[in-house]
Amino acid sequence: MIWATRSIHAFSIVVWLGGLLYMGGILYPVFRHERMTVTPLYVQIERRFMGFVWMSVWTTAITGILLMLFSPKFQFGSYQAPWEILLLLKQIIFVAMVIAAISTGKIVRKMESILAIVPASSTENQISVQHDRILVRRRLTITFGLVALLISTRMVMS
Ligand code: HEM
Repeated sequence: MIWATRSIHAFSIVVWLGGLLYMGGILYPVFRHERMTVTPLYVQIERRFMGFVWMSVWTTAITGILLMLFSPKFQFGSYQAPWEILLLLKQIIFVAMVIAAISTGKIVRKMESILAIVPASSTENQISVQHDRILVRRRLTITFGLVALLISTRMVMS
């Protein structure tokens, strides 16, 4: 049971951070170069990726809580031992990543409503502004995720 929970926990992180790195390192540079970050296709891709983000968020949270409750290193409510302090830090980072995901979801809905309402000729600027807002949140989430990964490695070794 514990090895399965650990595997699913690690897998959900791979999907979340891997997806963010694909969007940030491959899709965005190519789409920006081809001026495609203002197209309905781009908005569809963001919409679909949000599904993967929420699947990873819930899986990470549930398996993380289970791993926490299974761990002999965890004492409920006492964040005193170095392992528990690292866990608390990671939970705070996780909450920040979830807030960024909620905010990004709102921006994707806004882009969809722009495409639905505004005449095609004048959507480019408005979508481009929203894309830049998403970019900030994605870069922040990648940074937080990498810090959480480092903290997790330290936890496992302690
Ligand atoms: C973005 C956030 C997170 C990342 C990147 C992350 C990453 C990881 C990784 C890579 C491991 C090691 C897995 C292994 O060795 O099998 C791990 C273990 C663990 N994670 Fe997370 N995790 C995150 C969020 C959470 C949350 C929110 C919780 C608790 C609510 C949590 C609780 C744990 C626990 C208790 C362990 C086991 C640590 C140990 O064995 O000493 N994680 N995490």
